Amino acid sequence: MPDAKFAADNAPALSLIICTLNEGAAIRSVVTEIGEHLTGIDYEIVVVDDDSKDNTAAEVLDLGKTDPRVRLFVRKGERGLSSAAIKGWDIAKGRVLGIMDGDGQHDPVAIRALADMILAGDKDLVCASRYIGKTDTGLSFIRDLGSKAATLATGLVLKVPLTDPMSGCFMMTRDWYDTARPNLTGVGFKILVDVVASTRVKPRFGEVKAALRQRQGGESKLDIRVVLDLAALLVEKATNGIITARFVLFGLVGVSGAFVYALVLAVSHYLLRVEGALPLYRYQVRWDDIINYGLAIWLSMTWNFWLNNILTFRDKRLKGWPMLTGLLGFYFACSIGAILSLGVAILLKDYFGFHWFAAGISAALLSGVWNYWGAKALAWNQKKGI
Ligand code: GDD
Ligand code: MN
Repeated sequence: MPDAKFAADNAPALSLIICTLNEGAAIRSVVTEIGEHLTGIDYEIVVVDDDSKDNTAAEVLDLGKTDPRVRLFVRKGERGLSSAAIKGWDIAKGRVLGIMDGDGQHDPVAIRALADMILAGDKDLVCASRYIGKTDTGLSFIRDLGSKAATLATGLVLKVPLTDPMSGCFMMTRDWYDTARPNLTGVGFKILVDVVASTRVKPRFGEVKAALRQRQGGESKLDIRVVLDLAALLVEKATNGIITARFVLFGLVGVSGAFVYALVLAVSHYLLRVEGALPLYRYQVRWDDIINYGLAIWLSMTWNFWLNNILTFRDKRLKGWPMLTGLLGFYFACSIGAILSLGVAILLKDYFGFHWFAAGISAALLSGVWNYWGAKALAWNQKKGI
Protein backbone atom coordinates (compact mmCIF):
# COMPACT_ATOMS: atom_id res chain seq x y z
CA MET A 1 0.00 0.00 0.00
CA PRO A 2 1.44 3.38 -0.87
CA ASP A 3 2.29 5.70 1.98
CA ALA A 4 -0.67 7.99 2.59
CA LYS A 5 1.53 11.07 2.39
CA PHE A 6 2.62 10.28 -1.16
CA ALA A 7 -0.73 9.06 -2.37
CA ALA A 8 -2.02 12.57 -1.73
CA ASP A 9 -2.99 14.41 -4.89
CA ASN A 10 -0.65 17.27 -4.16
CA ALA A 11 2.50 15.12 -3.94
CA PRO A 12 4.88 16.71 -6.45
CA ALA A 13 7.03 14.74 -8.85
CA LEU A 14 10.23 16.39 -7.63
CA SER A 15 11.37 17.76 -4.28
CA LEU A 16 14.49 19.85 -4.56
CA ILE A 17 16.29 20.55 -1.29
CA ILE A 18 18.43 23.64 -0.88
CA CYS A 19 20.45 23.80 2.33
CA THR A 20 21.47 27.27 3.40
CA LEU A 21 23.73 28.98 5.87
CA ASN A 22 23.83 32.74 5.38
CA GLU A 23 22.90 32.78 1.71
CA GLY A 24 20.70 35.86 1.94
CA ALA A 25 22.53 37.51 -0.94
CA ALA A 26 21.81 34.69 -3.37
CA ILE A 27 18.83 32.62 -2.29
CA ARG A 28 16.11 34.71 -3.93
CA SER A 29 17.68 34.64 -7.37
CA VAL A 30 18.65 30.98 -7.00
CA VAL A 31 15.09 29.90 -6.23
CA THR A 32 13.63 32.15 -8.92
CA GLU A 33 16.09 31.02 -11.57
CA ILE A 34 15.66 27.32 -10.90
CA GLY A 35 11.88 27.77 -11.00
CA GLU A 36 12.15 29.27 -14.47
CA HIS A 37 14.09 26.24 -15.64
CA LEU A 38 11.69 23.70 -14.16
CA THR A 39 8.60 24.81 -16.06
CA GLY A 40 6.32 21.92 -16.90
CA ILE A 41 7.61 19.85 -13.99
CA ASP A 42 5.54 19.44 -10.85
CA TYR A 43 8.06 20.37 -8.18
CA GLU A 44 8.56 21.78 -4.69
CA ILE A 45 11.60 23.49 -3.25
CA VAL A 46 12.42 22.89 0.40
CA VAL A 47 14.98 25.24 1.89
CA VAL A 48 16.58 23.87 5.06
CA ASP A 49 18.18 26.80 6.83
CA ASP A 50 20.39 26.41 9.88
CA ASP A 51 19.18 29.54 11.60
CA SER A 52 21.16 31.90 9.36
CA LYS A 53 22.09 35.21 10.91
CA ASP A 54 21.24 37.10 7.72
CA ASN A 55 17.97 37.51 5.81
CA THR A 56 17.97 34.02 4.23
CA ALA A 57 14.86 32.80 6.04
CA ALA A 58 12.99 36.05 5.45
CA GLU A 59 13.72 35.88 1.73
CA VAL A 60 12.46 32.30 1.48
CA LEU A 61 9.32 33.03 3.51
CA ASP A 62 8.63 35.96 1.24
CA LEU A 63 9.02 33.80 -1.87
CA GLY A 64 6.71 31.22 -0.30
CA LYS A 65 3.95 33.83 0.07
CA THR A 66 3.46 34.06 -3.67
CA ASP A 67 4.61 30.55 -4.53
CA PRO A 68 3.39 27.75 -2.23
CA ARG A 69 5.83 25.36 -3.89
CA VAL A 70 8.62 27.07 -1.95
CA ARG A 71 8.86 25.89 1.64
CA LEU A 72 11.18 26.78 4.50
CA PHE A 73 12.39 24.66 7.39
CA VAL A 74 14.62 26.22 10.02
CA ARG A 75 16.84 24.06 12.21
CA LYS A 76 18.01 25.53 15.51
CA GLY A 77 21.23 24.57 17.25
CA GLU A 78 22.28 22.21 14.47
CA ARG A 79 24.81 22.44 11.70
CA GLY A 80 26.01 20.43 8.75
CA LEU A 81 25.13 20.21 5.09
CA SER A 82 24.59 16.44 5.10
CA SER A 83 22.27 16.32 8.08
CA ALA A 84 20.35 19.34 6.73
CA ALA A 85 19.84 17.55 3.41
CA ILE A 86 18.57 14.46 5.21
CA LYS A 87 16.16 16.62 7.18
CA GLY A 88 14.92 18.14 3.92
CA TRP A 89 14.32 14.76 2.31
CA ASP A 90 12.57 13.56 5.45
CA ILE A 91 9.97 16.31 5.17
CA ALA A 92 9.82 16.36 1.36
CA LYS A 93 6.75 15.00 -0.42
CA GLY A 94 8.08 14.28 -3.90
CA ARG A 95 8.65 10.93 -5.57
CA VAL A 96 12.05 12.13 -6.72
CA LEU A 97 14.41 13.81 -4.26
CA GLY A 98 17.16 16.22 -5.23
CA ILE A 99 19.66 18.65 -3.79
CA MET A 100 21.48 21.78 -4.94
CA ASP A 101 23.49 24.62 -3.39
CA GLY A 102 21.82 27.85 -2.37
CA ASP A 103 24.56 30.12 -3.63
CA GLY A 104 24.02 29.92 -7.39
CA GLN A 105 27.03 27.70 -8.08
CA HIS A 106 24.99 24.90 -9.61
CA ASP A 107 23.92 25.52 -13.17
CA PRO A 108 20.10 25.42 -13.58
CA VAL A 109 20.46 24.09 -17.12
CA ALA A 110 22.24 21.02 -15.73
CA ILE A 111 19.61 20.69 -13.02
CA ARG A 112 16.86 20.70 -15.63
CA ALA A 113 18.75 17.98 -17.51
CA LEU A 114 19.01 15.94 -14.30
CA ALA A 115 15.29 16.31 -13.68
CA ASP A 116 14.41 15.20 -17.22
CA MET A 117 16.74 12.25 -16.95
CA ILE A 118 15.41 10.91 -13.68
CA LEU A 119 11.77 11.63 -14.43
CA ALA A 120 12.09 9.51 -17.57
CA GLY A 121 11.87 6.66 -15.09
CA ASP A 122 14.76 4.37 -15.95
CA LYS A 123 17.30 5.76 -13.48
CA ASP A 124 17.60 5.69 -9.68
CA LEU A 125 20.32 8.28 -9.25
CA VAL A 126 21.53 11.09 -11.51
CA CYS A 127 24.39 13.45 -10.65
CA ALA A 128 25.89 16.65 -11.93
CA SER A 129 29.56 15.85 -12.54
CA ARG A 130 32.51 18.16 -13.03
CA TYR A 131 34.67 15.31 -14.28
CA ILE A 132 33.11 13.90 -17.40
CA GLY A 133 35.72 14.14 -20.13
CA LYS A 134 38.17 17.05 -20.14
CA THR A 135 36.44 19.95 -18.54
CA ASP A 136 36.94 23.19 -16.73
CA THR A 137 35.66 22.33 -13.27
CA GLY A 138 35.30 25.90 -12.14
CA LEU A 139 37.61 25.18 -9.19
CA SER A 140 40.98 26.64 -8.28
CA PHE A 141 44.00 24.42 -9.00
CA ILE A 142 44.44 23.37 -5.37
CA ARG A 143 40.75 22.63 -4.84
CA ASP A 144 40.65 20.76 -8.11
CA LEU A 145 43.59 18.62 -7.00
CA GLY A 146 42.03 18.04 -3.58
CA SER A 147 38.72 17.13 -5.14
CA LYS A 148 40.41 14.62 -7.45
CA ALA A 149 42.31 13.03 -4.55
CA ALA A 150 39.11 12.76 -2.53
CA THR A 151 37.36 11.24 -5.54
CA LEU A 152 40.09 8.63 -5.82
CA ALA A 153 39.92 7.67 -2.14
CA THR A 154 36.14 7.56 -2.27
CA GLY A 155 36.22 5.30 -5.33
CA LEU A 156 37.91 2.67 -3.17
CA VAL A 157 34.92 2.57 -0.84
CA LEU A 158 32.03 3.12 -3.24
CA LYS A 159 30.80 0.32 -5.46
CA VAL A 160 29.21 2.76 -7.93
CA PRO A 161 31.58 4.25 -10.56
CA LEU A 162 30.59 7.89 -10.05
CA THR A 163 32.94 10.30 -11.83
CA ASP A 164 32.25 13.01 -9.23
CA PRO A 165 31.22 11.59 -5.85
CA MET A 166 31.93 15.00 -4.28
CA SER A 167 29.11 16.56 -6.27
CA GLY A 168 26.62 18.54 -4.23
CA CYS A 169 23.96 18.42 -6.93
CA PHE A 170 22.05 15.22 -7.68
CA MET A 171 18.61 13.60 -7.78
CA MET A 172 17.35 10.15 -6.86
CA THR A 173 14.11 8.22 -6.60
CA ARG A 174 12.60 8.07 -3.16
CA ASP A 175 12.38 4.28 -3.47
CA TRP A 176 16.12 3.95 -3.87
CA TYR A 177 16.87 6.60 -1.24
CA ASP A 178 14.72 4.72 1.25
CA THR A 179 17.08 1.75 1.02
CA ALA A 180 19.93 4.00 2.20
CA ARG A 181 18.07 6.12 4.76
CA PRO A 182 18.49 3.81 7.80
CA ASN A 183 22.27 3.65 7.39
CA LEU A 184 23.09 7.29 6.71
CA THR A 185 25.87 8.87 8.76
CA GLY A 186 24.86 12.50 8.33
CA VAL A 187 28.29 13.86 9.21
CA GLY A 188 29.95 16.54 7.13
CA PHE A 189 29.42 17.86 3.61
CA LYS A 190 29.60 14.86 1.34
CA ILE A 191 26.03 13.70 1.25
CA LEU A 192 26.30 11.90 -2.08
CA VAL A 193 29.06 9.65 -0.73
CA ASP A 194 27.00 9.04 2.38
CA VAL A 195 23.89 8.00 0.44
CA VAL A 196 25.64 5.79 -2.12
CA ALA A 197 27.72 4.03 0.53
CA SER A 198 24.71 3.41 2.77
CA THR A 199 22.82 0.98 0.57
CA ARG A 200 23.63 -2.35 -1.02
CA VAL A 201 21.11 -1.67 -3.79
CA LYS A 202 23.09 -0.59 -6.84
CA PRO A 203 21.37 2.37 -8.48
CA ARG A 204 20.89 2.66 -12.21
CA PHE A 205 22.74 5.91 -12.51
CA GLY A 206 23.36 8.68 -14.98
CA GLU A 207 25.49 11.80 -15.07
CA VAL A 208 25.27 15.27 -16.53
CA LYS A 209 28.34 17.36 -17.17
CA ALA A 210 28.34 20.62 -15.26
CA ALA A 211 31.06 23.02 -14.18
CA LEU A 212 30.56 25.07 -11.04
CA ARG A 213 29.59 28.69 -11.52
CA GLN A 214 30.68 31.61 -9.38
CA ARG A 215 29.05 32.10 -6.01
CA GLN A 216 26.45 34.87 -5.96
CA GLY A 217 27.75 36.64 -2.86
CA GLY A 218 28.22 35.16 0.60
CA GLU A 219 31.15 32.86 1.31
CA SER A 220 32.02 29.18 1.10
CA LYS A 221 31.67 27.09 4.25
CA LEU A 222 34.18 24.58 2.98
CA ASP A 223 37.33 24.28 5.08
CA ILE A 224 39.89 21.74 6.29
CA ARG A 225 37.28 20.11 8.50
CA VAL A 226 35.38 19.00 5.40
CA VAL A 227 38.39 16.86 4.47
CA LEU A 228 38.57 15.31 7.94
CA ASP A 229 34.83 14.69 7.87
CA LEU A 230 35.12 12.91 4.53
CA ALA A 231 37.98 10.73 5.76
CA ALA A 232 35.94 9.82 8.85
CA LEU A 233 32.87 9.09 6.73
CA LEU A 234 34.89 6.78 4.48
CA VAL A 235 36.23 4.88 7.48
CA GLU A 236 32.71 4.39 8.79
CA LYS A 237 31.47 3.11 5.43
CA ALA A 238 34.53 0.92 4.82
CA THR A 239 34.08 -0.77 8.20
CA ASN A 240 30.34 -1.21 7.74
CA GLY A 241 29.62 1.21 10.54
CA ILE A 242 31.68 -0.63 13.14
CA ILE A 243 34.00 2.35 13.51
CA THR A 244 31.75 5.39 13.33
CA ALA A 245 32.76 8.66 11.71
CA ARG A 246 32.46 10.45 15.00
CA PHE A 247 34.71 7.96 16.70
CA VAL A 248 37.35 8.57 14.04
CA LEU A 249 37.16 12.33 14.62
CA PHE A 250 37.18 11.82 18.37
CA GLY A 251 40.19 9.57 17.94
CA LEU A 252 42.07 12.20 15.95
CA VAL A 253 41.36 14.76 18.64
CA GLY A 254 42.46 12.21 21.22
CA VAL A 255 45.78 11.72 19.45
CA SER A 256 46.40 15.47 19.42
CA GLY A 257 45.41 15.52 23.10
CA ALA A 258 48.02 12.87 23.80
CA PHE A 259 50.65 15.20 22.36
CA VAL A 260 49.43 18.04 24.56
CA TYR A 261 49.56 15.67 27.53
CA ALA A 262 53.13 14.63 26.71
CA LEU A 263 54.23 18.23 26.27
CA VAL A 264 52.70 19.46 29.51
CA LEU A 265 54.03 16.46 31.40
CA ALA A 266 57.56 17.02 30.14
CA VAL A 267 57.55 20.78 30.78
CA SER A 268 56.08 20.36 34.22
CA HIS A 269 58.51 17.55 35.05
CA TYR A 270 61.52 19.69 34.29
CA LEU A 271 60.24 23.00 35.65
CA LEU A 272 58.26 22.20 38.77
CA ARG A 273 59.84 21.03 41.99
CA VAL A 274 57.59 20.26 44.92
CA GLU A 275 58.86 18.54 48.02
CA GLY A 276 56.98 16.08 50.15
CA ALA A 277 54.49 13.34 49.73
CA LEU A 278 50.86 12.65 50.39
CA PRO A 279 50.34 9.73 52.74
CA LEU A 280 47.68 7.51 51.23
CA TYR A 281 46.84 4.40 53.21
CA ARG A 282 50.19 2.57 53.48
CA TYR A 283 51.80 4.48 50.63
CA GLN A 284 53.53 7.79 50.12
CA VAL A 285 52.49 9.51 46.88
CA ARG A 286 54.86 12.30 45.90
CA TRP A 287 53.29 15.72 45.33
CA ASP A 288 55.57 16.07 42.33
CA ASP A 289 53.84 13.21 40.58
CA ILE A 290 50.35 14.30 41.50
CA ILE A 291 51.00 17.80 40.15
CA ASN A 292 52.83 16.75 36.99
CA TYR A 293 50.39 14.08 35.93
CA GLY A 294 47.42 16.10 37.17
CA LEU A 295 48.41 19.18 35.20
CA ALA A 296 48.96 17.14 32.05
CA ILE A 297 45.59 15.46 32.46
CA TRP A 298 43.72 18.68 33.15
CA LEU A 299 45.23 20.68 30.30
CA SER A 300 44.92 17.91 27.73
CA MET A 301 41.35 17.37 28.81
CA THR A 302 40.55 21.03 28.24
CA TRP A 303 42.31 20.94 24.88
CA ASN A 304 40.27 17.90 23.89
CA PHE A 305 37.04 19.57 24.85
CA TRP A 306 37.84 22.64 22.81
CA LEU A 307 38.86 20.70 19.72
CA ASN A 308 35.97 18.25 19.94
CA ASN A 309 33.61 21.18 20.17
CA ILE A 310 34.79 22.63 16.86
CA LEU A 311 35.49 19.34 15.10
CA THR A 312 33.84 16.14 16.30
CA PHE A 313 30.63 17.73 17.50
CA ARG A 314 30.71 20.79 15.28
CA ASP A 315 27.11 20.17 14.24
CA LYS A 316 26.08 20.69 17.84
CA ARG A 317 28.79 23.18 18.70
CA LEU A 318 28.42 24.88 22.06
CA LYS A 319 28.95 28.61 22.52
CA GLY A 320 28.70 31.04 25.46
CA TRP A 321 27.20 29.69 28.67
CA PRO A 322 26.29 26.27 27.26
CA MET A 323 29.97 25.91 26.38
CA LEU A 324 30.93 26.49 30.00
CA THR A 325 28.36 24.07 31.34
CA GLY A 326 29.37 21.68 28.56
CA LEU A 327 32.98 21.95 29.71
CA LEU A 328 31.94 21.21 33.29
CA GLY A 329 29.90 18.27 32.03
CA PHE A 330 32.92 17.11 30.08
CA TYR A 331 35.16 17.40 33.18
CA PHE A 332 32.58 15.49 35.16
CA ALA A 333 32.31 12.79 32.52
CA CYS A 334 36.07 12.51 32.29
CA SER A 335 36.64 12.69 36.04
CA ILE A 336 36.59 8.94 36.51
CA GLY A 337 38.90 8.55 33.51
CA ALA A 338 41.12 11.29 34.91
CA ILE A 339 41.38 9.77 38.38
CA LEU A 340 41.97 6.40 36.75
CA SER A 341 44.69 7.92 34.62
CA LEU A 342 46.36 9.62 37.59
CA GLY A 343 46.21 6.50 39.74
CA VAL A 344 47.48 4.21 37.01
CA ALA A 345 50.32 6.59 36.10
CA ILE A 346 51.59 6.72 39.67
CA LEU A 347 51.09 3.00 40.13
CA LEU A 348 53.01 2.16 36.95
CA LYS A 349 55.82 4.48 37.91
CA ASP A 350 56.21 3.71 41.61
CA TYR A 351 55.28 0.05 41.79
CA PHE A 352 56.00 -1.33 38.35
CA GLY A 353 59.16 0.67 37.77
CA PHE A 354 58.00 2.41 34.57
CA HIS A 355 59.87 5.47 33.38
CA TRP A 356 57.86 8.56 34.47
CA PHE A 357 57.04 9.45 30.87
CA ALA A 358 56.04 5.97 29.73
CA ALA A 359 53.87 5.60 32.82
CA GLY A 360 52.02 8.83 32.01
CA ILE A 361 51.44 8.02 28.36
CA SER A 362 50.20 4.50 29.07
CA ALA A 363 47.78 5.72 31.69
CA ALA A 364 46.50 8.52 29.45
CA LEU A 365 45.77 6.14 26.60
CA LEU A 366 43.88 3.86 28.94
CA SER A 367 41.37 6.52 29.87
CA GLY A 368 40.83 7.54 26.24
CA VAL A 369 38.02 5.19 25.23
CA TRP A 370 36.19 5.78 28.47
CA ASN A 371 36.18 9.50 27.79
CA TYR A 372 34.59 9.07 24.37
CA TRP A 373 31.46 7.58 25.87
CA GLY A 374 31.44 10.10 28.67
CA ALA A 375 31.72 13.02 26.29
CA LYS A 376 28.96 11.74 24.06
CA ALA A 377 26.61 11.28 26.96
CA LEU A 378 27.27 14.37 29.03
CA ALA A 379 28.72 17.28 27.12
CA TRP A 380 27.18 17.16 23.68
CA ASN A 381 24.12 15.20 24.64
CA GLN A 382 23.78 13.19 21.46
CA LYS A 383 20.25 12.73 20.24
CA LYS A 384 19.42 9.41 18.69
CA GLY A 385 19.27 9.36 14.88
CA ILE A 386 20.06 12.14 12.48
N1 GDD B 1 21.67 24.13 6.32
C1 GDD B 1 23.00 24.20 6.14
N2 GDD B 1 23.82 23.93 7.21
N3 GDD B 1 23.50 24.52 4.94
C2 GDD B 1 24.84 24.59 4.82
C3 GDD B 1 25.73 24.33 5.86
C4 GDD B 1 25.18 23.99 7.13
O1 GDD B 1 25.88 23.75 8.11
N4 GDD B 1 27.00 24.49 5.40
C5 GDD B 1 26.89 24.84 4.11
N5 GDD B 1 25.58 24.91 3.75
C6 GDD B 1 25.00 25.25 2.46
C7 GDD B 1 25.52 26.55 1.89
O2 GDD B 1 24.76 27.65 2.33
C8 GDD B 1 25.37 26.29 0.40
O3 GDD B 1 24.05 26.56 -0.03
C9 GDD B 1 25.65 24.80 0.28
O4 GDD B 1 25.39 24.24 1.55
C10 GDD B 1 27.08 24.49 -0.14
O5 GDD B 1 27.97 25.16 0.71
P1 GDD B 1 29.22 25.97 0.16
O6 GDD B 1 29.90 26.59 1.32
O7 GDD B 1 28.80 26.85 -0.97
O8 GDD B 1 30.10 24.78 -0.36
P2 GDD B 1 31.02 24.71 -1.63
O9 GDD B 1 30.49 25.51 -2.77
O10 GDD B 1 32.39 24.96 -1.20
O11 GDD B 1 30.87 23.14 -1.99
C11 GDD B 1 29.76 22.71 -2.77
O12 GDD B 1 30.21 22.16 -3.94
C12 GDD B 1 30.97 20.99 -3.77
C13 GDD B 1 31.39 20.50 -5.10
O13 GDD B 1 30.28 20.27 -5.93
C14 GDD B 1 28.91 21.71 -2.00
O14 GDD B 1 27.77 21.40 -2.76
C15 GDD B 1 29.67 20.44 -1.75
O15 GDD B 1 28.79 19.48 -1.16
C16 GDD B 1 30.18 19.93 -3.05
O16 GDD B 1 31.01 18.84 -2.78
MN1 MN C 1 29.00 26.80 -3.02
